Amino acid sequence: SDPLRLGIAGLGTVGAGVVKIVRQKAAMLETRSGRRIEVVAVSARNRDKDRGVSLTQYAWEDDPVTLATRDDVDIYIELMGGSDGPAKASVEAALKAGKDVVTANKALLAHHGQALAELAEANGAVLRFEAAVAGGIPCIKALTEGLAGNDITRVMGVMNGTCNYILTRMEATGQGYNALFDEADKLGFLEADPNLDVGGIDAGHKLALLSSIAFGTQVDFDAVELEGIQRVSIDDIRQAADMGYRIKLLGVARMTGRGLEQSMAPCLVPANSALGQLEGGTNMVVIEGDQVGQVVLRGAGAGEGPTASAVMGDVMDIARGLRMTTFGQPAATLEKSVAAQAAVA
Ligand code: HSE
Repeated sequence: SDPLRLGIAGLGTVGAGVVKIVRQKAAMLETRSGRRIEVVAVSARNRDKDRGVSLTQYAWEDDPVTLATRDDVDIYIELMGGSDGPAKASVEAALKAGKDVVTANKALLAHHGQALAELAEANGAVLRFEAAVAGGIPCIKALTEGLAGNDITRVMGVMNGTCNYILTRMEATGQGYNALFDEADKLGFLEADPNLDVGGIDAGHKLALLSSIAFGTQVDFDAVELEGIQRVSIDDIRQAADMGYRIKLLGVARMTGRGLEQSMAPCLVPANSALGQLEGGTNMVVIEGDQVGQVVLRGAGAGEGPTASAVMGDVMDIARGLRMTTFGQPAATLEKSVAAQAAVA
């Protein structure tokens, strides 16, 4: 069969990680999917940076929109980030041209996911974004495939590695939030604007996506009750520990009689629970279904290998012929959440 040809925009750690997997595991990927997978073109701001992998054999486009719409690109992989600007313009252009899109861009999808999914469907394309929620943890695949026979009753998650790292280090060192910020930076997980991390916004984006998939609702980031970790003090942490609890930046989403409730805020969790044993920069997603009960997924929510792993999972699904946008149902059938109205009423 014909090879599946990738165009990758954004060659930071994740983009470079995807190139490495495609190159180093070519034979395995072909055996597993039945198609040869190859990178044909790339785009990034800095052409000369050393990314630990040679890019000379790929066509180079300065404009991601040009890359996204190239005739020889079957899947456009957007790894630039940002909720608007070139990321949005190029994803729209790709979908309008009928190209499949794989992205790790949680901010883009939290704000424009509904419109983009509709655009994909209108053009016979698919839009997949496993890497946008909890990095390497295949939580979207769990919801849309393995747990598809369940009514989901609740989803919860620690989905920002930077915040979990800071909170864990506050417990261990007794140092305050500000002192640990530089240490957290060394993890390499910080967003370009770190306020997105510590303000809970990045985690809120991910919760809005996850809950939309879990409950079949339109992405409603504005309805997420948000509180970051900036005001968590060492005293709070000590008092929680005295009672057998730890403080986590926890997202919770559930369907109630008043519609979908979503919150992302510092929460007390029992120290001996799965969530209470989550350390450092790790992520955890907890899914509760009416048939399965509770399922706990733990893993790396950021970084080169884990995020590239999730991107490749989506590429492999497309290579195998799965024509489904990440929401697990057509965008047109996603219901509007009434949570926002309930909050006003
Ligand atoms: N800034 C994010 C984090 C990166 O700290 O988890 C992964 O989305």
